[in-house]
Amino acid sequence: MANSLLFNLLQIYLLFLSFSTCALGLAKFHEVDLRDLTSKNVCSPPKDMERFKSVKPTLKIVDRQGPCSTLHPAEKLSPEQILSIDQSRVDSIHRQISALSRKGKTSGPLSSSLITAQDGGSYGVGNYIVQVGIGTPSKTLTLVFDTGSDVTWTQCKPCQVYCHKQQEPIFDPSQSSTFMNVSCNSTPCNDVSVNSCWGSTCLYGVQYGDGSYTVGYYAEDTLTLTPDIIQKFRFGCGQNNNGSTLGEVAGLLGLGRTSESFVSQTSNKYQRIFEYCLPPISSSTGYLNFGSNSDISNKNRTPIKPGSHYYITMTGLSVAGKTLPISPTVFSDAGMIIDSGTVITRLPPDAYKALKSAFREHMTQYKMVQVPDNFLLDTCYDFTGVDNMTIPSVGVQFVNNVSLDLDHNGIMYTFSNSQLACLAFAGNRNATSLGIYGNVQQRTFNVVYDIPKGEIGFSPDAC
Ligand SMILES: *[C@@H]1O[C@H](CO)[C@@H](O)[C@H](O)[C@H]1NC(C)=O
Ligand SMILES: *[C@@H]1O[C@H](CO)[C@@H](O)[C@H](O)[C@H]1NC(C)=O
Ligand SMILES: *[C@@H]1O[C@H](CO)[C@@H](O)[C@H](O)[C@H]1NC(C)=O
Ligand SMILES: *[C@@H]1O[C@H](CO)[C@@H](O)[C@H](O)[C@H]1NC(C)=O
Ligand SMILES: *[C@@H]1O[C@H](CO)[C@@H](O)[C@H](O)[C@H]1NC(C)=O
Repeated sequence: MANSLLFNLLQIYLLFLSFSTCALGLAKFHEVDLRDLTSKNVCSPPKDMERFKSVKPTLKIVDRQGPCSTLHPAEKLSPEQILSIDQSRVDSIHRQISALSRKGKTSGPLSSSLITAQDGGSYGVGNYIVQVGIGTPSKTLTLVFDTGSDVTWTQCKPCQVYCHKQQEPIFDPSQSSTFMNVSCNSTPCNDVSVNSCWGSTCLYGVQYGDGSYTVGYYAEDTLTLTPDIIQKFRFGCGQNNNGSTLGEVAGLLGLGRTSESFVSQTSNKYQRIFEYCLPPISSSTGYLNFGSNSDISNKNRTPIKPGSHYYITMTGLSVAGKTLPISPTVFSDAGMIIDSGTVITRLPPDAYKALKSAFREHMTQYKMVQVPDNFLLDTCYDFTGVDNMTIPSVGVQFVNNVSLDLDHNGIMYTFSNSQLACLAFAGNRNATSLGIYGNVQQRTFNVVYDIPKGEIGFSPDAC
């Protein structure tokens, strides 16, 4: 009796909500079929096939562990492992941003101590992959794409120290007629954040937050992004590559901001403009486009602040259409970067506190799950027996009146083999720690990086 009364009240409440939603033309709640949240075993093609016929290079972006991936790792990372790796990435971003860049001595060529002596320049392999061609003739390689790091690299024969197992044949410089080493006395060599010399050959190193690393020769060769060919593209030819998060990827495509990143090296061709859409679930397909595209909308653009990373400024958050009482200084004191490789958005502690408490107020009809103390996410629900869940909308505001209504896949993080889903945000421990706008929240948005204008733009429902 009590239950059915509650049920009736809930129905009336929902009816009222959908009514008020229509009246305002804004979705204050999302009704989500739980089966749509979990990935299928079959790869869905891109939503907008036309985009792939563009004259500008367009790469498919897929989840490295999903059914669209070309990789077939023996063991997939569990969502728990992904979150733990995510925290090492964030810790290392925090360490790197607070540390002054240090340069030191190395104990020998191709040793991982090249990195430990000099402080790593990057921090953790993300979870989205693309395919590019390297060499002449061109060899297809699957790379993680990462806006948080700069040096592009791939494992290279003869793998003088070690190469991990990868899906495609390891790139063999001796089979490419256009491969060259980068000389040690050159500006590019100096601009690689971790570098050294071995005779006249430039060495590079990159270390990731969880201890994975790559060390090798800094080289140049032809890069093919159909239909374009980029000559003399500089990348790391990895001779010593090891670590648990590298999985079966051949390497990484660095879309960071400094001079050796892909974006800087191709500035004549693509004017430092690129855009991507991260797929909503791991069985769907997104895209990565280079160069200016006519359909880049001028709406919803927020300024990027100068610096080594893509700094943007959050100004507010809303839940179910209601702006949360968070002082703007909470966001400005911490600062924030947008990062394709961090999974869960990290907020200043006070902002996260306000968000989770408002979110929980709208979720009282569901069973909250107690999570272990050190678990990254703390607002989790058991949806066993629930077909459709109703979750409040979450809005994010950035400087310049940019207001994003997140896709429902950008609000909840689901755990594949259970009915468990958690609010996909976390709080930093320290109010002055840098905030990070992560890839779950970016899902389905076209995110355009327009460096000449100093702006990052967002448009919804792009993939
Ligand atoms: C669940 O939601 C979908 C739309 O997302 C709707 O088509 C379906 O009827 C709903 N199912 C139930 C049981 O309410
Ligand atoms: C690049 O440098 C390494 C180390 O000095 C050397 O073994 C290799 O042959 C060089 N490759 C080319 C194409 O010069
Ligand atoms: C790779 O790294 C692991 C630890 O992360 C280590 O145990 C292993 O010996 C390394 N393998 C090689 C070939 O360096
Ligand atoms: C910001 O956007 C809101 C609606 O999206 C609009 O009402 C308001 O006038 C805008 N403010 C400025 C300063 O553009
Ligand atoms: C927060 O970070 C600042 C600057 O890094 C540091 O001085 C302070 O001790 C930290 N506070 C806590 C509680 O960890």
